[in-house]
Amino acid sequence: MSRKVSPDNMELPSKAKVLTVVGARPNFMKAAPIIEAIRQHNESITASPSRSIHRHSQIAIESVLVHTGQHYDEAMSDRFFADLNIPKPNVHLGAGSGSHAVQTAEIMKRFEDVLLKEQPDLLIVVGDVNSTLACSLVAAKISFDGNGTRPIIAHVESGLRSFDRGMPEETNRILTDHLADLLFVTEESGLTNLRQEGIADDKVHFVGNTMIDSLLAFRHQADLSPILETLGLRGNGVATESTNGVAPYALLTLHRPSNVDQREAFLNILEGLEELASSCPIVFPAHPRTQKRIAEFGLERFFSIHGPSGNGLAPAPINANGKICLVDPLGYLDFLCMMAHAAVVVTDSGGIQEETTALGVPCVTVRENTERPITIQVGTNVLAGTSAEGIRRAARQQIKSKGTGAMPEAWDGKAAQRILDVICQELTKKQVNSLLLAR
Ligand code: UD1
Repeated sequence: MSRKVSPDNMELPSKAKVLTVVGARPNFMKAAPIIEAIRQHNESITASPSRSIHRHSQIAIESVLVHTGQHYDEAMSDRFFADLNIPKPNVHLGAGSGSHAVQTAEIMKRFEDVLLKEQPDLLIVVGDVNSTLACSLVAAKISFDGNGTRPIIAHVESGLRSFDRGMPEETNRILTDHLADLLFVTEESGLTNLRQEGIADDKVHFVGNTMIDSLLAFRHQADLSPILETLGLRGNGVATESTNGVAPYALLTLHRPSNVDQREAFLNILEGLEELASSCPIVFPAHPRTQKRIAEFGLERFFSIHGPSGNGLAPAPINANGKICLVDPLGYLDFLCMMAHAAVVVTDSGGIQEETTALGVPCVTVRENTERPITIQVGTNVLAGTSAEGIRRAARQQIKSKGTGAMPEAWDGKAAQRILDVICQELTKKQVNSLLLAR
């Protein structure tokens, strides 16, 4: 009989390769803390080989970063790498835009070659965008050796469910979770949802929220952003009723296809926002998809344009004249600064519901459902629906609200460390298993 083996009495390889995929704007702030945690882990091993900060492992991690190119504009991608100190990707797939099928297939085709070349021990995918699903699906079916050897698939932000199959992200979430070997969950509802879908408990780890790791890490730096002065919301001539020298303003984001891709739906939302726009300025950093739709649907009359089309921000004063102040998409630090100082945030984004909860800023979500119920239970978020009247009502309620709320469990800036701890354990287990098989 073979001697009982454990990591303590085996000669294990001292290196493992972890490949992280990012593709679209909401991925960058979720992946950045994990990439940084890997860097710190390696540094601690080099500095003191016997005292890794991750108690389970002395494994040095070779980190490979792949950008699929789903988002490619300077404002949607490069700016975030700079703001979040993310290293330059090792591989850029340049997949670009297209229909869901074209985009997903293009990423899959290009990613397969990279995966075969790199042969990582573990793949990290984050969030719910097309890149997340495309790369998980490639990894789930790949074989490095004709024997089914493939990377461990780790999904960060598992278990969120809107129960709305009309959302492309819902399909991406469900399929990715069912392909993953390690599922990292941000809130209680995720645990319940995964259990209900029959996913084994031992794959699931409640770790907190890496997007909030980024928010907490960059909050002070974001406060130094000059964006409020640039927009005339702080500094010379700001209205006397201002708080902390910042004029009261609302911050708006809208990009969800169900809200902006049909004229009628988009028009309803804009009519619902007119009342708010008459009581305080609404600043709207608009996604390229939304900017295109405004022109295509002839909805310009709702907006005053402050430097669209990548030309930076015009110095025109922003005020409450019933029009929405449209600006180009902002970088991470500028946007975080704008969220932190807003009287109210109106959005159809998933992540912004969580960021406003962490900041204690009132949020109106222009959707019928949310996959992030914790932001309503303990946070500052209300669901307005998408009718004009629902939006008016929610905006009236939230502009009077003081925000506050409570920080959800484990949204403490340490989610990436917890994830890396689990990853190191799994990499050790994988090495033990492959050594046993080789005997
Ligand atoms: C994607 C995600 C969505 C996320 C959003 C954040 C999916 C299914 N959706 O939606 O979950 O909330 O990102 O922004 O993955 N475009 C540019 N420049 C860019 C990127 C896109 O001009 O850098 C334009 C293109 O015309 C493109 C359109 O925006 O066709 C939509 O981009 P796409 O990546 O398909 O989806 P998003 O709406 O950005």
